[in-house]
Amino acid sequence: MNRETDLRSRRKDDHVRHALDQDSIVTDSDFNHVHFVHQSIPSFNLDEVDLSTRIGPLKLTQPLYINAMTGGSEWTRTINGKLAEVAGATGIPMAVGSMHAALKHPELADSFTIVRNHNPNGLIFANVGADVSLEGAKRAIELIGADALQIHINAPQELIMPEGDRNFSTWRGNIKNIVQHVSIPVIVKEVGFGMSRETLQILKDIGVQHADVSGRGGTNFASIENARRENKDMDYLKNWGLSTAISLLEAESFVDDMSILASGGVKTPLDAMKCLALGAKAVGMSRTMLEQVEYHGIEAAIEYISQFHHQMRKISVMINARNIEEINRRSIVFSPEILSWQKQRSLH
Ligand code: FNR
Repeated sequence: MNRETDLRSRRKDDHVRHALDQDSIVTDSDFNHVHFVHQSIPSFNLDEVDLSTRIGPLKLTQPLYINAMTGGSEWTRTINGKLAEVAGATGIPMAVGSMHAALKHPELADSFTIVRNHNPNGLIFANVGADVSLEGAKRAIELIGADALQIHINAPQELIMPEGDRNFSTWRGNIKNIVQHVSIPVIVKEVGFGMSRETLQILKDIGVQHADVSGRGGTNFASIENARRENKDMDYLKNWGLSTAISLLEAESFVDDMSILASGGVKTPLDAMKCLALGAKAVGMSRTMLEQVEYHGIEAAIEYISQFHHQMRKISVMINARNIEEINRRSIVFSPEILSWQKQRSLH
């Protein structure tokens, strides 16, 4: 391994290590400021609840997916293998982490291809940054036989990282070009900083049909990258970004034209149900799934997802909504903090 691949692999391991350490860094996901209205007399039975959903042409039997994390080192290869087995056994889609490592250093590719080997028939999402070339995006898709392509937008992370990108002006044109020239769904995603109405409008204008708002409240890349800095002097940015709940409010006027996906700080089935009630079509989890496979193992992670889905169905009964469309329309009540945001941003 040469010095560059070694540094890259070390960065991937750092991200996983710091993400696992982040249990105690809790920024507000704002899910506690979103409330369901309990319904005492449900009109259907638990076994009639159907939470199947779609991301464009992709059919999901459950509204859950394992969101992008990793690949690019020996350790992260084993993590990807475990996540792929969990995804295969539960039938939920899985995204790999950024594939730039494999594009630049083919010897690292098997830390991504392992996902397809362990889950030959499942839905798998490739993942690249917004600076990737069209050829790079196509190669990433081909490498793992991807069913969708995630393009991550992560400006704060790059800016806090000493070795990060400083050039962003090509992102829009690049994303537009990729959306126009690849034949599978393209999902533009944040990495835990959330998306504003303005961002979503830009994405819509350049033809993006699927966006994962990935908001603040869970994995915190401002803190992770700051912890990796020698002088750790950008810690004051740890609350940067829009929470997942606020991002979904910002996305409200886009839900009819785009599939809005939610991630960032989703820890319980109730959090996931709130995302759906705020308009999301499906809900992604990264750190929660990393913790499951690393601390509890594959079997426990499979059981975790199965219970998670089952409990979402139970909550559906409690709000008397038997499918995603009905949950999307369920009335919710906001705490003053959220109401104030909504009012100041004129989101209604
Ligand atoms: C990530 N995330 C991420 N996203 C992405 O698009 N490409 C990537 O390579 C990575 N890498 C990565 C590594 C690790 C260790 C974690 C935990 C996360 C971001 C991830 O997909 C998601 O947007 C955020 O983590 C927020 O979700 P959670 O973790 O709060 O569920």
